[in-house]
Formats: sequence, C-alpha cells, structure tokens
Amino acid sequence: MFEIIDRLVKYQDLNDEEFISLLNCTDVAAMEYLTHRAREVCDRNYGRKVYIRGLIEISSYCKNNCYYCGIRRGNAKAERYRLTKEEILDCCDHGWELGFRTFVMQGGEDNYYTDELMCEIIREIKSRYPNCAVTLSLGERGEESFKRMYDAGADRYLLRHETANTEHYSKLHPKEMSLEYRKKCLFDLRKIGYQTGCGIMVGSPYQTTENIVEDLHFMQKLKPHMIGIGPFIHHRDTPFADYPNGSVELTIKLLSILRLMFPKVLLPATTALGTKDPYGREKGILAGANVVMPNLSPVATRKKYSLYDNKICTDSEAAENLADLKKRIKAIDYEIVTDRGDSLCE
Ligand code: 5AD
Repeated sequence: MFEIIDRLVKYQDLNDEEFISLLNCTDVAAMEYLTHRAREVCDRNYGRKVYIRGLIEISSYCKNNCYYCGIRRGNAKAERYRLTKEEILDCCDHGWELGFRTFVMQGGEDNYYTDELMCEIIREIKSRYPNCAVTLSLGERGEESFKRMYDAGADRYLLRHETANTEHYSKLHPKEMSLEYRKKCLFDLRKIGYQTGCGIMVGSPYQTTENIVEDLHFMQKLKPHMIGIGPFIHHRDTPFADYPNGSVELTIKLLSILRLMFPKVLLPATTALGTKDPYGREKGILAGANVVMPNLSPVATRKKYSLYDNKICTDSEAAENLADLKKRIKAIDYEIVTDRGDSLCE
C-alpha cells in the first residue's frame, strides 16, 4: 500500500484497481502515511493556513425532491424561510466585521431568487466590500443565469455533482433530475469563468467503491477549483431516514486522496464532517483540507436549514464564535487567515 501511496504522490493518479484497493484499505499505518503525505502537499502549496468562508443559508425552500435532503419539496415538516436582500446584507456586514472576506450564499432551488434579485444582491455586496469574494451555491440554473450573476460580480460557484454514475444518481434523485444536466451546469460554470466546486456525499445510499472511482475520474475531467465532500447523514423526514450514515474515516481518506490528486484544490473540512465527529474538522485539516465555512446565517433560521439530522450550527462552527474556532485550529498548529483565499488552480 505504501508504494501505491507514493505513486499517487508522484503522478497524482492511479489505475482503477489501485484506487479501489486504497479506498478499501484499513491498514492503520498505511492510512497514517496517506494522511501525512497529503498534509505535506497541502502545506507546500498553501502553507499552514486555513481559509474561512461565511456561509449564509438564504432559503430553505426547494423545488427539488432529492431523497437524501431534509429541505426536499416533499418534506411537509420542513420549516421554510427565505432571507430578504436586507437580511442577507446584514449577515455580510456582520461577517465583514468578524473578518470574513468570502461570502457564500447557499440555498435550496427557490424561484423567488430571480436573476434580477441575485444580481442586485451581488452588486450591493461587491460595492460595499470591493475586495471580497462572492460564492454562490444555488443549485442548477441555466447558462444565461450563471452568466448574468458572473457579470454582476459573483466569483465562485459550488454545485456538488453528488455522484458521477448515472444509475447511482437515479437512486438519489427523482426522475425529473438528470446527471447529464448537472454535469452540463458544472462545465458551463467553469467555461464562464467561475472558480467552480463539485463534490459528493461520502457513504450516500447505494454508493459503491467503484462509484467513488468514477467520481474521481469525473473530477479529473472537470478540473474543479474546489471540492466539497462530507459524510452522508440521514434526515428523519426523508425516504433515506433509515439508511446508515457515511463514515468519517472514509471521508478523511478521500480528502487525502483528493489533496494528492489535486494539490492546489480548495478543500473544505465540512459541517457534515464536524457533525459526525466533534473533531471532524481538525481531522479533515490534518488530512489535507484547508477551508472551513462557519455559519453566518441569522441564528433564528439556522435550525430550519436542516439538510440532515443534528446539523451543528451554534458552537465553533458559528461565525460569531470565530475566536473559539481560531483556538481549535491553532491547537493543531494551523492558522485561520483573513483573506479571499482564491484557488491556486488554473
Ligand atoms: N447528508 C449529508 N449531506 C447532505 N447534503 C444534502 N443532504 C445531505 C445529507 N442528508 C449535501 C448535498 C448538497 C449539499 C448542499 O449538502 O451534497 O449538495
């Protein structure tokens, strides 16, 4: 296994058989070695720095009905809210004071946020804070819509592909959604000029090791600037309520593999990872992650943006507790930095 890991470091690639044996490997010493090599590569590219992004969850309305997600259209128990332009700007004001230089607007697919409204919000954020970065995570939209928001000043877009395998995709989503369109969105975003992020849930229902290898190949084609991965965590009011959660160990391992395949990619230690393990984010950083995304949403709405059960949102993952997060990151000998933290990828 050590030779396989060395080959991954050297070539940023493996053959499928090697990827599968690495993904299935449980040898503790080999896994420690993998983590160590990934950390080294991250330190070499980005230093011992962790970038922070202020996450503003703008809407819990969603027109989609993905089987895994707590804010799916079909969940009648989900509490719905949407933030107004003024509320979003208040979050940014607060975030700016705290030191955030990237604002991520994420939400369910909600037609309330027309291109006109989004462009207005983006322009206002950019004019108040000229050197900040605006990241969008608003799901699938048309190419024209992506273009308009880019022209209004948006810099980055996060759209997890969820799985690159058509059959697996159809087990996670109702038939009106298509993997082909999702992939098209990602390539459109990249072509328009966004720093683009894709990603998956680790251990989502029906996911196989071969599926993960397909995800890696898809990422090699897309060449994303950012990759968001976190464990699948079931939500009680979804069709997947009784499915097992994804594993923290596999998520950590995959973070390291991604760091070695894409040395310059921005890789968040996600909230889902922090939810499943109280030290999930620290473990993620020590395995090659270099971004955390504290919650900057109004405290009153945080619980309502419930993608999965027990989502953490009030301790060190809350933007207002940044001091606590800084301490925790310092304890593992890393440092939170206040700058845009653009991707070094082309
Ligand atoms: N568990 C973990 N992650 C989830 N997401 C949605 N539902 C869940 C869940 N039950 C992730 C999806 C989506 C991102 C915003 O949140 O990957 O793209």
